[in-house]
Amino acid sequence: QDDQFKKVISHAKEYGYVFQSSEIYDGLSAVYDYAQNGAELKKNIRDYWWKAMVQMNENIVGIDAAIFMHPTTWKASGHVDAFNDPLIDNKDSKKRYRADVLIEDYCAKIEAKIDKEVAKAEKRFGEAFNKAEFVSTNPRVLGYQEKINEILSRMAKSLENEDLADVKALIEELEIADPLTGSKNWTDVKQFNLMFGTKLGASAENAMDLYLRPETAQGIFVNFLNVQKTGRMKIPFGIAQTGKAFRNEIVARQFIFRMREFEQMEMQFFIKPGTQQEWYEHWKETRLKWHLSLGMGEDNYRFHDHEKLAHYADAAADIEFKFPFGFKELEGIHSRTDFDLSQHEKFSGKKLQYFDPEENKSYVPYVLETSIGLDRMFLAVFSNSLVEEELENGTSRTVLKLPSVLAPIKAAVLPLVKKDGLPEVARKIVDDLKWDFNIDYDEKDAVGRRYRRQDANGTPFCITVDHDTLEDNTVTIRHRDSMEQERVKIEDLREIIKKEVDV
Ligand code: GAP
Repeated sequence: QDDQFKKVISHAKEYGYVFQSSEIYDGLSAVYDYAQNGAELKKNIRDYWWKAMVQMNENIVGIDAAIFMHPTTWKASGHVDAFNDPLIDNKDSKKRYRADVLIEDYCAKIEAKIDKEVAKAEKRFGEAFNKAEFVSTNPRVLGYQEKINEILSRMAKSLENEDLADVKALIEELEIADPLTGSKNWTDVKQFNLMFGTKLGASAENAMDLYLRPETAQGIFVNFLNVQKTGRMKIPFGIAQTGKAFRNEIVARQFIFRMREFEQMEMQFFIKPGTQQEWYEHWKETRLKWHLSLGMGEDNYRFHDHEKLAHYADAAADIEFKFPFGFKELEGIHSRTDFDLSQHEKFSGKKLQYFDPEENKSYVPYVLETSIGLDRMFLAVFSNSLVEEELENGTSRTVLKLPSVLAPIKAAVLPLVKKDGLPEVARKIVDDLKWDFNIDYDEKDAVGRRYRRQDANGTPFCITVDHDTLEDNTVTIRHRDSMEQERVKIEDLREIIKKEVDV
């Protein structure tokens, strides 16, 4: 698992997808830059989301609100008071950790023991092995599971009651050690706000304290009435947006999974109070379908219903994805009630209500939210696509099997040799296709090596121009995943590529 994750990170760097931010200064922790291919992949994911949410839904519109917001926004939203992480310091190493993550990591180790038992049994029973039955009856596995449940429910309860002393007691009872140094010498657990502060204004006396937004959602809530009125929107309707969010995350060591500066793609769906259950189910199902439409394997997704709810929600579920380090949250679907709009009414003194012509009355709408991290989606797509394949001839190849619709470069045009007029013909093909697709031109090295390079880069098609092309205007088109090659007419290329890469 660790090895696969390391491969993902180094491949992302080697092929120009993700670089550490400010690398020449040794980087900045949990901050990353998207490189030439990464920026394309990220944009394609964003567009794929926008198309599904905004373009395909008559009753959903998109906005682009500012990152800076009036500071009262964050009092109203609850972020000033409740957007905290429980932190604990190790007295010897002076390292700081999120207390809940230390405990969760401890549970993950127990879970790994369960996996081992399962693997052992599978080997023993072979074909006849029934995993579901095994994990629900094997006493050792049941014991491990019980222990995990006990620990996690005690932690959830302590955090909910803000009983931080008990969180510390739990860490001590489990004898959890500093992952880096092994020391078990812990301080008390303290709450720590995750918002980044900054100042607006020229002089120190007049400057206004601001926060960098920790979620894009509030930019939608404060614009709810403006959009509803100017767009003449009728409930149910949605407002979507994508944009940067900032959180001073403490445990930020899983590459672009948890970053301090990241991008969210959020949609707030405004509904009639009392219909939230129905819409909650609707959006859970709709969002899962969106994920499955990318063809990355049904088994890689699962729902996780929340027992511990955020301060604003009456129901919440995550869509979890199987990352190289296990199943983790990719997207959240939250039933946020009228919490946010009511809070903004209270703090702003402005009415944020909708007049429902069918009911002939005004009310504060309820809200269903879908919220996905763009960077996290990037990691899901990228890590799932990276495979090492053994070929029939005994060699192997590294291939990035990105869904074609998301691939940064859709086709590479390769002249077989750098002479006899082949580069000129290849260039002409590039010039023609580049109006519709991102196309690469590559003439360096033997064609086999160029194929491998494009495989590793995730390019769905290679188009090779050879001497026959000069005679009959045909080229060889090679498919990344099957490695199959066919001879096609130059004039058909556009349609062939389009069929594969269009949504
Ligand atoms: N408006 C609701 C909200 O922000 P959240 O569960 O805190 O809910 C939603 O965040 C999504 O944003 C997560 O499912 C995750 O994909 C992404 N996300 C949150 N924190 C992140 C971080 N530090 N780095 C990268 N992505 C993050």
